Amino acid sequence: MEPFLHGCSIYLRPVEHDDSVHRVAWLNDPEINRTLDFELPVGEAMTREWIRRVSADGTRRDMTVCDLTSRQPIGWGGLLAIDWRHRKAESYLGIGDKHYWGTGVAGQVRLLLLELAFDVMGLNRVYSTVWVENLAMQRLNERAGLRREGVLRAHKYAHGQYRDYVVYGILRSDYESDKQAVGSRDARS
Ligand SMILES: CC(C)(COP(=O)(O)OP(=O)(O)OC[C@H]1O[C@@H](n2cnc3c(N)ncnc32)[C@H](O)[C@@H]1OP(=O)(O)O)[C@@H](O)C(=O)NCCC(=O)NCCS
Repeated sequence: MEPFLHGCSIYLRPVEHDDSVHRVAWLNDPEINRTLDFELPVGEAMTREWIRRVSADGTRRDMTVCDLTSRQPIGWGGLLAIDWRHRKAESYLGIGDKHYWGTGVAGQVRLLLLELAFDVMGLNRVYSTVWVENLAMQRLNERAGLRREGVLRAHKYAHGQYRDYVVYGILRSDYESDKQAVGSRDARS
């Protein structure tokens, strides 16, 4: 499938049937799933069924992140709980191919998902809930302009413990003023 939104080295496209192979490998990797709350192990058949279901679900947009050069899938991201009445959604992402960790692609995905929510879909609020120990994801959110809004105590039971989650949020007005500030900084430099 053709790129839908692209950054400088990756692009997003809707999740496809054949993505199940990569998703199963990524989500069963303990280094990847240690900050996620999937029911493990993740199976091939249930993943194919999940892809079929979410592809037809108007309350979410599930994307695969691909390398712009090789076109190989390297991660996932999307919007959940899309609420058209209140014009908001929850955003999520992960980089499954660990060769890409620390390369800045996660930051590109973070920004493309905001572009999807605000510029393409016209939403007003995007939020993200992050396991309190997941410092890299919190930093990614902050660098993209999401504001730390609070902590949901014992929000989920995962990997044998109750987990606190930090809530981050960004409004369309924040997004637009941040973009303007970056634009005027670039124009001055
Ligand atoms: C979370 C994830 C997307 C981060 O991607 P990444 O490529 O590893 O992130 P980066 O290395 O670019 O780090 C992002 C920022 O966090 C900082 N960071 C990374 N690890 C950190 C740590 N342990 N403590 C503090 N800061 C940290 C980095 O320095 C970087 O900040 P900078 O841009 O100011 O230098 C990736 O590790 C992943 O997909 N993990 C599994 C799935 C997951 O947890 N998804 C999020 C669910 S909410």
